[in-house]
Amino acid sequence: MNRLIVVSNRVNPPSGTGEESVGGLAMALSAALREYSGTWFGWSGRTTPAYSGQLAVQKIDGVTVATVDLEEADVEEYYNGYANKTLWPLFHYRADLAAYDRAFEEGYERVNRRFAQTLRPLIEPGDLVWIHDYHLIPLARELRALGVKNRIGFFLHVPWPAYQVFTTLPGHRQLVQALFEYDLVGFQTQEYQQAFEEYVQSEAGGTLSAPGVLSAFGRSVQVGAFPIGIDAADFAKLVRSPRAVRMRDLMAASTVFRHLIVGVDRLDYSKGMEERFMGFERLLVDNPELRREVLMLQIAPVSRESVEAYQEIRARLDALSGRINGEFSDIDWAPFRYVNKNYRRDELAGIYRAARVGLVTPLRDGMNLVAKEFVAAQDPRDPGVLILSRFAGAARQLNEALLVNPNSPEEIGEALKQALNMELAERIHRWRALFDNIEREDVTAWRDSFVAALSKTGEGRPRALAS
Ligand code: F6P
Repeated sequence: MNRLIVVSNRVNPPSGTGEESVGGLAMALSAALREYSGTWFGWSGRTTPAYSGQLAVQKIDGVTVATVDLEEADVEEYYNGYANKTLWPLFHYRADLAAYDRAFEEGYERVNRRFAQTLRPLIEPGDLVWIHDYHLIPLARELRALGVKNRIGFFLHVPWPAYQVFTTLPGHRQLVQALFEYDLVGFQTQEYQQAFEEYVQSEAGGTLSAPGVLSAFGRSVQVGAFPIGIDAADFAKLVRSPRAVRMRDLMAASTVFRHLIVGVDRLDYSKGMEERFMGFERLLVDNPELRREVLMLQIAPVSRESVEAYQEIRARLDALSGRINGEFSDIDWAPFRYVNKNYRRDELAGIYRAARVGLVTPLRDGMNLVAKEFVAAQDPRDPGVLILSRFAGAARQLNEALLVNPNSPEEIGEALKQALNMELAERIHRWRALFDNIEREDVTAWRDSFVAALSKTGEGRPRALAS
């Protein structure tokens, strides 16, 4: 088996005990890596006065982790700047929030170059290199410039936007051209893959020479859809852990005679929390008889706090949650709990298990693994109902969820009512189909299908086309 070198901006390996509260990408990558004798390379999350490329190497839960510190200007221009003020909003259809600044672009290029120089000595002949997400699109180009001939794959965890949105990015062509330095480019869904193909064909004069093979810029690249999954078996184990059970009991005790509705998201404007809060408010307004019957818990750990748009959404959510409780609370009851704290994964598993409804309504989302974890945590004999945004990548697989338009508080309110009134037989029927999908299309299937596709791509550098 080839060695696997995984690269992502954030390197946050879990310990395997459930105590961490890392995001979906980190969980999926460590689960993917444990199987290979590989290395995970990326940013340490720390800064240093001058970039030295000094690697910190450690072995965590069977995974070799190599991290590097960045300069403050790197973090400002590459991470806060180009990644999170330019690409993130644009890829989530918020062109109105996207900032275009040459310094951001330069910082992005510089960090990708630095990562390539630091990573280069770790790559041995025959290694498969798998690069993740929008922070690192130019990395293959930089590695190729340093003579790396290995197979290099790229996986985009976030949506690829429609061509009309993507072309609002100054420098969109160079970014796409950089993707042609990979052997394989993977997307979460066919819809994102098609949006990419459409761009290449209409904007870069490219052609689809065979299914999944795109030619442009004098090169060809394999593309495909590889929906990411969770480690369903591991999560099922976590649900039975003492901490999860305690959390479930705690939630049950604090919601006696009420149904719990739960949302868990990084505090991000793409997650649709304003509309979701208003959807809950709608439920309370339209159904007075349900008011004392429900409790909504929204967990939203703060994220990317140096970026203004995140400070603004936080202030709006604070105000909205306060308004809802002010309007509907009674002396002995409040309908809404809004918590900006991070919880361990085992605790979240217990919270999901106690909930009657999982409310996952991002305005745009590459996949959304909270939706899958919610399903995995349910009691098969009395499962909760998943309400899911039609604009989350997960909606392509989880058809038996109640799919909603996340922009519409009315639709969210109606779906909540439907979920709260749903008979046990229907809940079981829907949950079974959802769980089957989550078990079948889990993180191992995702990893194996991507790695198999990458291993099969043409030798070495993507073929330069005979012109
Ligand atoms: O899924 C997109 C993503 O940016 C991941 O790359 C990352 O792990 C997660 O969101 C959390 O974001 P950040 O690393 O900026 O805290």
